[in-house]
Amino acid sequence: MRSFLLFLIACTLFSCTNQNTKQQTIIDPNDSSEMALMMRDMFFKLNDIKSKIQSGQDISYEQLRFSVIHETEATDNSFFNNGLTLMSNAFEQKVIDFNNYPSVQNYTEIVNNCISCHQGMCPGPLQRIDNLILEKKR
Ligand code: HEC
Repeated sequence: MRSFLLFLIACTLFSCTNQNTKQQTIIDPNDSSEMALMMRDMFFKLNDIKSKIQSGQDISYEQLRFSVIHETEATDNSFFNNGLTLMSNAFEQKVIDFNNYPSVQNYTEIVNNCISCHQGMCPGPLQRIDNLILEKKR
C-alpha cells in the first residue's frame, strides 16, 4: 500500500515532464522549478480560501498575489508556447476579477481555469487540483 502511494505520488510529480518527447529525468525531486513551486503555493492559498468558504467565513477581504505564470521558469522549456501564454493571461484576468470582487463565484472561476490549463498542458496534478472544487451543500 505504501509503495503504491509513493508510486502514485511519483506519477503525479513527473507526469508533466514525461509527456515531452525528449525524456528528461529529474534527479532530485526537491529541486523544483520556480513555476512548480508557484503552483504549489497557489494550491495552498486557494485551499485555504476553500476551507474558509466551507466553514462559512467571510472571504470578501481575501487578495491573491501570484507571479505571472508564463514569466516564471519551468521544468521544461517546451511548456513555453502560445497556448501557455494565452491560458496564463486568461488566468491572470480571473485572479484580477477575484481581487476586485472576492466571491465564491470568482473562486470557482479560478479553479476552473487551473483545470482547463492543466487538461491541455499538464494533466498530472489534475487529481490534486480537483480537491479545490467546492463540495455541493447537502
Ligand atoms: C497557464 C497554464 C496553467 C495554469 C492556469 C495553472 N497551471 Fe499548474 N502547472 C502548469 C504547468 C505548465 C506546470 C508544470 C510546471 C513545471 O513543472 O515547471 C504546472 C504544475 C502544477 C502543479 C505541480 C507542481 C509540482 O509540485 O511539481 C500543481 C499542484 C499545479 N500546477 C496546480 C495549479 C493550480 C492549483 C492552479 C490554479 C490556481 C494552476 N496550477 C494553474 C500550468 C498551469
